[in-house]
Amino acid sequence: MKVLVIGSGGREHALVWKLAQSPRVSTMWCAPGNAGIAAEALASNGTPVQCLNLAAENLSGLLAFAAEKRVDLTVVGPDNPLAMGIVDQFQEKGLRIWGPNQRAAQFESSKAFSQAFMEKYGIPTARSKTFSLAGAAKRFAAELRGRCAVKADGLALGKGVLLCRSEEEAFRAIDDMLVHQKYGAAGRQVVIQELLEGMEISLHALCDGRVSRLFPTAQDHKRVGEGDTGANTGGMGAYSPTPFLDAAGMEQMADRILAPWERGCRGEGIDFRGILYPGVMLTRNGPKVLEFNARFGDPETQAYLMLMSKDLLDLIDLSLDGGLEGLTKDFVASYFRGVAVCVVMASAGYPGPCEKGKVIRGLEEAGRLPRTKVFHAGTARADGEFVTNGGRVLGVTAAGATLAEARARAYQAVRKIQFDGAQYRRDIGAKALGSAT
Ligand code: AMP
Ligand code: GLY
Repeated sequence: MKVLVIGSGGREHALVWKLAQSPRVSTMWCAPGNAGIAAEALASNGTPVQCLNLAAENLSGLLAFAAEKRVDLTVVGPDNPLAMGIVDQFQEKGLRIWGPNQRAAQFESSKAFSQAFMEKYGIPTARSKTFSLAGAAKRFAAELRGRCAVKADGLALGKGVLLCRSEEEAFRAIDDMLVHQKYGAAGRQVVIQELLEGMEISLHALCDGRVSRLFPTAQDHKRVGEGDTGANTGGMGAYSPTPFLDAAGMEQMADRILAPWERGCRGEGIDFRGILYPGVMLTRNGPKVLEFNARFGDPETQAYLMLMSKDLLDLIDLSLDGGLEGLTKDFVASYFRGVAVCVVMASAGYPGPCEKGKVIRGLEEAGRLPRTKVFHAGTARADGEFVTNGGRVLGVTAAGATLAEARARAYQAVRKIQFDGAQYRRDIGAKALGSAT
């Protein structure tokens, strides 16, 4: 089977690595991929994975490639191509592709759409309203005493959410989006939500257009600094599962969030096949959905796929063919084994501008540790060496029987890797251990 993976980050390296283990895969490409992805080979026949000089947003180029090579399955990592309708375009040409179609991808591409959907179908979320005029937006922000999240409606590279704790901050955020248009078209409408407090977790549900099944919980670490301080990033690390929901808690997520979501999709005629990733705050008043994403999380995927003991392709087939009903709710126990921790190593300056081209040392030694895999995000090859090529450079991921074991192993691997200016958080998974470090 010939497989094409779209994207270039740590999530896509994890997807490529996992799919490359499938005995059913005979050829694999990644567009555009990265240096770590280009170093992978297929378990079935030893063929290297080939990276293509095609950007994830170059839909016509990707379509022409898939048609010419008769790709059997395309797997989409990032949100942008999904929002642009890559799935619809491939399907029109009779090509098999995994991910939500453009209409279904609106759960991520429009926060206003998601918010209206949640209210219509009774999915617990923050108190919220959508605005295109600054005056009305400010009146609502004042009602919330300035304690609110101001969110650009559209995709804004993960930067379109401003958390405010005073009227002054909220008014500035509203002006930046609606008046000064600092977020371009994405900020023409804003969603304002009350600021919620609690433990934030990532849920991932595999969906087949009718039925959805939850993966174990995961937790991302969005702030750059230890103790959740400093600027928001694309994610500095993740682990799965978390100890914050037991079996009854997971049942509650399925009943309160997924069941009304499935009902809503049926009601609206939305055919969602792929991964639904709700960001959820566990508040004193129960779980509340902060946002929906319509794809795998990065770096959550790196942790999930380290735990997955069976072929990911089988799950993708069930999702595409409407076969999830047959997957009992306890499939999690047979698909996911142990605990995994992913520690992101980033360049100096991240999430601001970063220098590139720093030589990365110690990768082989780190990768030799048991149940450890170093996923590449922003890397390139120069003169036969791996060098840094972006803000988030590596996702150093390890699995173990317990969180403590996985964590110890991940940090042991991190310590074997060096590049100039490397920064990472030392407290990934710490909340689950109930300590600060
Ligand atoms: P989003 O891009 O919507 O996930 O928002 C980015 C981050 O902002 C989330 O991961 C949360 O940590 C935080 N956030 C978003 N909405 C809220 C809210 N209503 N209350 C508190 N924190 C929020
Ligand atoms: N883990 C954050 C994201 O993928 O959006």
